[in-house]
Amino acid sequence: MVGIELGDVQGLILRGYTMPVARYLGLSVRKSAGARAFLAALMDSDSAIAALTTAAPWPVKPDCCVSLGITFPGLAALGVPPASLASFPVEYREGAVQRAASVGDVGASAPERWLPWLADPALHLLVVLFAQCDDALDVATKHLEQAWFPGCVELGRQDGARLPGNFAHFGYRDNLSQPTIDGIPPSGLPDPLPPAPVGEFLLGYPSQFDQFSYPVPEPLELGINGSFAAFRVLEQDVDAFAEFVAQQAASTGMPAELIEAKLCGRWRNGTPLVLSPDTDTPNPPISPEAMNNFDYVGEYGDEQGYRCPIGSHIRRMNPRGQRVAGNGGQQHRIVRRGIAYGPPYDPAHPRDGQARGLLGLFIGASLRDQFEFLMTQWANDGTFAAGLGRTNDPLIGAQANGATSFSIPRPQGTVVLHGLSRFVTTRGGAYCFLPSISGIRYLAGLGSDR
Ligand code: HEM
Repeated sequence: MVGIELGDVQGLILRGYTMPVARYLGLSVRKSAGARAFLAALMDSDSAIAALTTAAPWPVKPDCCVSLGITFPGLAALGVPPASLASFPVEYREGAVQRAASVGDVGASAPERWLPWLADPALHLLVVLFAQCDDALDVATKHLEQAWFPGCVELGRQDGARLPGNFAHFGYRDNLSQPTIDGIPPSGLPDPLPPAPVGEFLLGYPSQFDQFSYPVPEPLELGINGSFAAFRVLEQDVDAFAEFVAQQAASTGMPAELIEAKLCGRWRNGTPLVLSPDTDTPNPPISPEAMNNFDYVGEYGDEQGYRCPIGSHIRRMNPRGQRVAGNGGQQHRIVRRGIAYGPPYDPAHPRDGQARGLLGLFIGASLRDQFEFLMTQWANDGTFAAGLGRTNDPLIGAQANGATSFSIPRPQGTVVLHGLSRFVTTRGGAYCFLPSISGIRYLAGLGSDR
């Protein structure tokens, strides 16, 4: 364990804010000096605007938390010198638009179809607000607008709001499993897996790979304690998902709720299939603290996937102790900060034409080894684990409509669901650097005599 100065780290990397509303604001730098003054104001807790939220414990939970992501063109627009720019990893330098096809953003998910502000090469800053209520969100936005106005223009924004009961739009409980990070006060539900080293989520510390730390972008003041995030606007076709489940229930004779649970790896209420394969309300009940207390192998004995299919969303995204190609089952963990957008889905009034989905930040020290690895190796390919063939993640996979299948292994024979569509379409993305507080101070001071 390494000592981390929590007050130097953006809070969102290390803890979820569990606030009911959020706003993502995309800005373009028009005058670098004005933009740097905006960054300086974000560092000033005495100014009228909400200061950037750090990971230091808060005596009282604030009404609004502020985070800042910077795209690679954003660093250049702020005046970061070429040698420093060149020290950032290539996937970040290329950015979400250029890397889109490799993570499955093709067809309806291709950048040409994205929300214009997210495909705009002049997207420089992503200001992320999480707030206790709409009023707090609006007040903070107004103050921030005044502060960025001299240097930046807004390209676009996207609001999100937690759905009742913490559910995501396909109807599952969300935000249950997050990695525990070594030496960081735990937030969220307990995670029984070995703690992830700090260097898997912050630059400047030993990583999850033996004797390896991710190179820290230069200068150290800018790079250390920073992290990276893939921002994603993921639209969910709840009608198509509900129809698919209903059709498969009719053709296989399996209950619809069981099919949904098999696709995800958890029942809708979050109960893990490994712990309770036949019912979402086991007796004795599973306490909320024990919702992540499972593995797929060893004493849990689900190597074959009879309880939780090997191809289900959560087993692909975190295979835990299961054997996977490269033995890297626990070396690609990711911090997820997500919130829903769009109105709750009402099955009594389907096809209401409303856009709904997930605004997600997928955070780690390496976009390549975490977000991109999960998308390319585990979500959109099946060759990493026995029995998956060339299948995709049933919830988030980039399958052409109707082109892939999903296997539900059972001792009495495998049930194969055919004709899986693409239920999640990417409406936009941005690869962001999440600098430390000292990193933002460094950026704010560029151009002045240092
Ligand atoms: C709209 C898109 C998505 C939906 C509806 C969705 C849904 C879910 C649900 C219901 C869970 C289980 C609850 C939990 O552990 O929090 C989950 C877990 C998870 N998801 Fe997703 N997800 C989506 C996108 C993604 C993406 C894009 C990634 C990765 C890049 C991802 C990675 C994960 C991981 C790592 C877990 C935790 C697995 C575990 O530790 O057991 N998800 N997701």
